[in-house]
Amino acid sequence: MGENTYVSGIEHVGLSEDGQRVRILDQTRLPNREVYKEVGTAEECYTAIKRLEVRGAPCIGIFAGYAMYVIARQVKADSLMDWAGKVREEGSRLKSARPTAVNLSWAVERVLAAMDSRLAGGREAALYAMKTESLAIHEEDIGMCKRIAEYGLELVKAGDGILTHCNAGPLATSLYGTALGPILLGQERGVHFRVFADETRPLLQGARLTSYELVRAGVDVTLICDNMASMVMKNGWVQACFVGCDRVAANGDFANKIGTSGVAILARHYHIPFYTLGPASTIDMDCPTGADIKIELREPEEIKNMWYKEPMALPEVKCFNPAFDVTDHELVTAIVTDRGIVYPPFKENLQRLFAKQD
Ligand code: MRU
Repeated sequence: MGENTYVSGIEHVGLSEDGQRVRILDQTRLPNREVYKEVGTAEECYTAIKRLEVRGAPCIGIFAGYAMYVIARQVKADSLMDWAGKVREEGSRLKSARPTAVNLSWAVERVLAAMDSRLAGGREAALYAMKTESLAIHEEDIGMCKRIAEYGLELVKAGDGILTHCNAGPLATSLYGTALGPILLGQERGVHFRVFADETRPLLQGARLTSYELVRAGVDVTLICDNMASMVMKNGWVQACFVGCDRVAANGDFANKIGTSGVAILARHYHIPFYTLGPASTIDMDCPTGADIKIELREPEEIKNMWYKEPMALPEVKCFNPAFDVTDHELVTAIVTDRGIVYPPFKENLQRLFAKQD
């Protein structure tokens, strides 16, 4: 994986040395502990996604590719067709771990298609094709991140203040990340920005992961609570918002970490350009609008208990804990993809983007 260690200094997802398990940096332990673990069984892989040990849409895709390969190696069956059927069932189970980020099902389907394409050659041939495909997904992500970073860098100038939400950096992808890509590429080239990182309640990806990555890269980053974004914008400290995306619908609506749509609304109020950055694999042209995106609901414990010495709410208090929200396309200045920058009207221009490449 060589190059993807460069910016973050961390090789956080890949096959284990013996190729039989997936090695991950457990993101739930950051920033205080860099703990690596290997997962191999179907249950361990499912749990790693569910618990956000691996997270961020492209990273979930990369992980899922490897996971499908290592799981398929363990599946036992009497016949080749039976084996392939059982592997497909494992794929469905893995996809159900988190429903919003389209990269998960995209990667699982890619690796299953690779299996199908070589099935006639037997189990070993099919497994080889799965492994090759999972490595390709990882390798392609490195290229995609680089291109997104180059495009994004065109949109800002040295000294700009950039506000970001959640974590769309190297930990969420391979190299550079998506929303943090232009910032990290700029840093590498001597173009420096001032970054405001929303802490991102309830799971604190902004505090735990984004500020961690940016400090390690030497970027000027200021951590703020989510409810401070408005003040920071009003003070004139933010010239652009860069956020990631988990699924972009065909009309340009997109799902990203809960709180993103609030940032977009504030940005519109203060006349600040608002960009979402993501690879083409995050654009779901089969999903017409944001209303068609399934939003993951998570446990109340994450709000009431998780970061506190003792519970901060009574046990009987009801909680609503959606992991993502949908930002309306009207609030989006542009979608920065690895295939270029897409401006409104999104429906037409996204169609053109895919027509050009397919
Ligand atoms: O719940 P998470 O931490 O997986 O959510 C991550 C995000 O919302 C990211 O912004 C998104 O996946 C893009 S990552 C390049």
